[in-house]
Amino acid sequence: MLTFDIFLTLFFALIVSAVTVSIIYTTVSLGISPMPSSNKAYLAMMQLADETGSGTIIDLGSGWGNFVIRIAKRYPHRQIIGYELSYLPWLISNLIKKFLGLKNLTLHRQNFYQIDLSSASVLVCYLFPHAMAKISDKLQQEQAGVDYLISNNFALPSFQASKTIQLDDFYKSPVYLYKIAKIKT
Ligand SMILES: C[S@@+](CC[C@H](N)C(=O)[O-])C[C@H]1O[C@@H](n2cnc3c(N)ncnc32)[C@H](O)[C@@H]1O
Repeated sequence: MLTFDIFLTLFFALIVSAVTVSIIYTTVSLGISPMPSSNKAYLAMMQLADETGSGTIIDLGSGWGNFVIRIAKRYPHRQIIGYELSYLPWLISNLIKKFLGLKNLTLHRQNFYQIDLSSASVLVCYLFPHAMAKISDKLQQEQAGVDYLISNNFALPSFQASKTIQLDDFYKSPVYLYKIAKIKT
């Protein structure tokens, strides 16, 4: 009995360690953790998404699915796509999607720098400055048909935001809406 208890404890310790190592590894290699947008940021992003018509929304780095799952429920007739490289957040968000039967949500375990943006109408992200610079380059090089980009907290270099919501949080964090096609420089 004691041996079984020890086995069980070691088994769970192994699982927790593997999960921790996996998250730390992807956080270090990607430069960002799978930290979800705050509820205030989500509400602002949703308010901005309401102004973007009915096209496909792509979350660049969908994390645990906090944004994509809520937005897929909010817009059942819109296609929502998430790209996430971190294995555990991608797995958990996929399980929740299946449990909730969200047929308009697709979650890919793929590097979003390598995706074809031609089917995207709206890009959404909560990343960091270096990633925003790479996305800006990608948008300018590919001349993709992206109409809008919504960014939590980080500005998109070389583009002018058409609307900014300042959150009522400690840092007065901005959430930006960019109209890509019209304001491209
Ligand atoms: C701060 S989280 C944002 C999660 C979600 N978008 C939200 O707002 O709640 C950023 C996520 O982007 C993912 N990520 C970063 N670079 C990536 C890349 N090149 N391809 C796919 N996912 C990436 C990270 O693994 C992380 O989970």
